[in-house]
Amino acid sequence: MGFRVKLWVMIICSHVLVTAALTNRNDLAVLNAIKSSWKNLPPQWKGSDPCGSKWEGINCTNSRVTTLILGGMGVKTNDIGDIPSLSMLQYLDLSNNKGIRAILPASIQNLKNLTTLILVGCSFRGPIPDSIGSLKQLVFLGLNNNSFTGSIPPSIGNLTNISWLDLSDNQLSGPIPVSNETSPGLDKLVKAKHFHLANNKLTGPIQPQLFHSNLSLIHVIFNNNRLSGTIPSTIGNVKTLEAVRLDSNSLSGTVPQNISNLKTVTELYLSNNNLSGPVPDLVEMNSLFYVDMSNNSFDQSDIPTWFTLLPLNTILMEKTHLQGEIPSDIFQPRLETLELSHNNLNGTLNIGSSYSNDLIVDLTNNSITNFAQSSDYNLSLNIDNNPICEGGSTGRYCATPKPNIPNTRLSNSCPPMTCGSSKVLSPKCICTNPYVGTIYFFSHSFSNLDNATYYTTLHDTLMSAFRFFQLPVDSMSISNATVDEYNYLQYRLHIFPSNQDYFDRSSVSLIGTVINRQNFSLPFYGPLFFFDESYCCFPGSKSTNHGIIIGSVVGGFVVLLLIASAITYGIYQKRQATKAKHNRPFATWELDNGGNAGGVPQLKGARWCSYEELKTCTNNFSEDNIIGSGGYGKVYKGTLDTGHVVAIKRAQQGSLQGAQEFKTEIELLSRIHHKNVVGLVGFCYEQGEQMLVYEYISNGTLKDNLSGEGRTRLDWMKRLNIALDSAKGLTYLHELANPSIIHRDIKSNNILLDDHLTAKVADFGLSKLLGDNSKGYVSTQVKGTMGYMDPEYFMTHKLTEKSDVYSFGVVLLELLTARPPIKNGKYVVREVQDAIEKSGYPNGLYAVLDPSLGSSQTLGGLTKFVNLAMSCAQDKGVDRPKMGEVVREIETIIDLAVLNRGDDPSLTFSSQNVGKHGDLYYPYGDSVSDASSLSVPFETELQLRR
Ligand SMILES: *[C@@H]1O[C@H](CO)[C@@H](O)[C@H](O)[C@H]1NC(C)=O
Ligand SMILES: *[C@@H]1O[C@H](CO)[C@@H](O)[C@H](O)[C@H]1NC(C)=O
Ligand SMILES: *[C@@H]1O[C@H](CO)[C@@H](O)[C@H](O)[C@H]1NC(C)=O
Ligand SMILES: *[C@@H]1O[C@H](CO)[C@@H](O)[C@H](O)[C@H]1NC(C)=O
Ligand SMILES: *[C@@H]1O[C@H](CO)[C@@H](O)[C@H](O)[C@H]1NC(C)=O
Repeated sequence: MGFRVKLWVMIICSHVLVTAALTNRNDLAVLNAIKSSWKNLPPQWKGSDPCGSKWEGINCTNSRVTTLILGGMGVKTNDIGDIPSLSMLQYLDLSNNKGIRAILPASIQNLKNLTTLILVGCSFRGPIPDSIGSLKQLVFLGLNNNSFTGSIPPSIGNLTNISWLDLSDNQLSGPIPVSNETSPGLDKLVKAKHFHLANNKLTGPIQPQLFHSNLSLIHVIFNNNRLSGTIPSTIGNVKTLEAVRLDSNSLSGTVPQNISNLKTVTELYLSNNNLSGPVPDLVEMNSLFYVDMSNNSFDQSDIPTWFTLLPLNTILMEKTHLQGEIPSDIFQPRLETLELSHNNLNGTLNIGSSYSNDLIVDLTNNSITNFAQSSDYNLSLNIDNNPICEGGSTGRYCATPKPNIPNTRLSNSCPPMTCGSSKVLSPKCICTNPYVGTIYFFSHSFSNLDNATYYTTLHDTLMSAFRFFQLPVDSMSISNATVDEYNYLQYRLHIFPSNQDYFDRSSVSLIGTVINRQNFSLPFYGPLFFFDESYCCFPGSKSTNHGIIIGSVVGGFVVLLLIASAITYGIYQKRQATKAKHNRPFATWELDNGGNAGGVPQLKGARWCSYEELKTCTNNFSEDNIIGSGGYGKVYKGTLDTGHVVAIKRAQQGSLQGAQEFKTEIELLSRIHHKNVVGLVGFCYEQGEQMLVYEYISNGTLKDNLSGEGRTRLDWMKRLNIALDSAKGLTYLHELANPSIIHRDIKSNNILLDDHLTAKVADFGLSKLLGDNSKGYVSTQVKGTMGYMDPEYFMTHKLTEKSDVYSFGVVLLELLTARPPIKNGKYVVREVQDAIEKSGYPNGLYAVLDPSLGSSQTLGGLTKFVNLAMSCAQDKGVDRPKMGEVVREIETIIDLAVLNRGDDPSLTFSSQNVGKHGDLYYPYGDSVSDASSLSVPFETELQLRR
């Protein structure tokens, strides 16, 4: 009685706490699924409460994930998973992860509350889905620098809140959509300030309807496409414009005169088109600093008066049929670049005396015959290929001047110092690991890259943005100013951390998001995007001691909770059993997505799948989809709606587990997230079916790969890596999973290999929690597979982690011998031991070594490997190493193998490492049949001793 009261108190307490800390179950499931299938996510993603324990990159409101920022973390995935199910998401930034090679699914439309979508610089491919037009709250859409194909969906015109639309640097084709009676178009985006469509394959004319006076556009960036037709005169109605880039297209015809109405435009690029007619008169554009109209077919024209009347600092009019003499008053102090090569300018060049010393003038390939200043000038001037330079003239203006290489401004002025490894000296003379990347500007209103004003402005603006967002940035240096082939100005940024000598992941992605979101005003510069270089120095999971301490406290609690839940559930089950058949014991919670589902235990990541869903995705459980079978039933391959390829393990009638066992299994599995452990994606418990949905591992079992047909050539190095991977997976289960898990059925059949031969431990059907019990073992009926089973466990029924270590030792011997543990009645552990005892080392090994491994002389670390395997296979658990120690030993062996040390002569085989199998009653005898996968039926009682 007392026990029961205590139990209920425990249950009540735990539910109160669960309610307080829980992340919405659906969101949790989505994140866990992502966690198990994406690579390089923050190691800090631990535990089962992303909102409560503040997983890096995630912010929540009312238990719902509202922010997901994973920029610049080197994340890799081929599909964005179930992100569209994070239905309360408002801010999604995955930018600067080149390893994201996903499509944007139509289901993205489910993110109804999304305001910001930043996917800059990933490898997204496929079309931009039409359904994107449903994201009515969207304000910022940055899909630039990916590989999107297809046309711009007209439905984007429905995103009436949008302010920033950037689709540039993709493979988009087709026209720029405008609205008609039946369809929306970009002209409907009256709040948009930015249309960035540059560097695609867009065709067709720019429709006049695109521009009208109700727009609030400041940046029209359409350069480097295949747009044709004339520049619509309606552009003159968009009075808010500040930068216009229509260059490098196939635009033709006359530039409309009312472009000159754009009085706030500072940068105008019309170069590299087929524009004709008179050189446009821009005299009204009295904010214009930068004009580029090079390479067009304008009518012959004298230098227009607006060259001198406007505040221009940059005039680029190469190959535009300019003629006559250059008026000397265009050489004003503000002028930074004058590029008028390949024209018909003639007469005398007079640069006066008020020009800036930084001025760059290119007048090559003209007809200039005289130079008023002779040699007495100090600007960068080139008038080569003019009559004045013919006939052996030696004027220094007749040669290309030394290029003006911009200095690295704001670089440090520290005493000479060298920093170790990846560290760099900051402007404040501290060696730290900077976050490095390149910032690109679509346009800029100046051209003197050596003018400190521009650097300083950029530096100060970014630094104050970092301060505003409280990012741990200590200082920044700006270097390598260049202008690339698209006329994008770029700088390399070194951003140095404060407090620590490296940035954590959240800081890196926040820096990226702050820059790419460009929520600051930046004089002289147009819109930008930021590409990083993958950050060298994220803190590893090892340095997060806090996490471990907190983790184990929380973990301990989870154990209690799990036990409580299991027992509650057991009581419930017993009650149900006496009443009726319990077809659907999970019926009360299987469909509940509310997140606070009263007395129901929580699954950490696994999602409930309907019978129908699994039936559909396996083509009605068709034979063709079967990828495996066993005593329990069959395994089917299928593809879920989300695009996940999965392996569905379907228990057959007669091998259905008890409800509690099934539940224990899914609870367990759903807590497990490690790259060397096969992850559970979902489960089905419906219509008398029990199915487990796992991530699909493409390359089959280790057993199949070591033997039989379809075997991959596993050389020594590959085998060592497989050993290491699986040891890591097991270590995770033993030492890091909360609660600890004993696998109980480690065998080569339960180690799966993926495309890259990464090994993953699978199948916890027999797993037991190693819960809160001081004895460190769980007493159960003996389960396992012949040939791998720990003899001590067999004798005593005491299951410990060391039982898995034994089985793992057998797997190591399998890697060595490529034979099943029991073959022709002979047991591999004893075989290896006998062989060595009989013929000594190394000769004895030859008899048992897999011939395809080649000579043992070339197998670096072989001795250590055999010693390790045999020490794992000791009779007594206490004599076996822990899995963590096994991992370290395999790492050492790999080091030896990498050095290609045949065999280390200083090592000899230590026969005392070989167990004396036989001290205990040995369960297999010498004449067991080849029953390599004989699993004993599972017994459901969880007998925990207190
Ligand atoms: C997350 O929420 C906290 C507290 O509301 C806020 O200070 C922080 O800026 C948010 N972070 C992000 C990335 O939105
Ligand atoms: C999500 O959007 C709905 C409808 O626009 C709105 O009522 C709700 O407040 C939003 N949720 C959040 C968390 O902003
Ligand atoms: C755009 O929005 C309107 C009104 O909300 C809707 O009727 C129409 O179907 C939407 N069009 C597209 C292409 O999404
Ligand atoms: C309206 O625009 C859509 C998309 O741009 C196009 O497919 C359709 O043909 C247009 N309809 C008319 C009547 O022009
Ligand atoms: C310069 O060119 C213009 C137009 O081609 C011509 O009228 C003028 O006479 C030329 N001047 C000189 C000095 O050659």
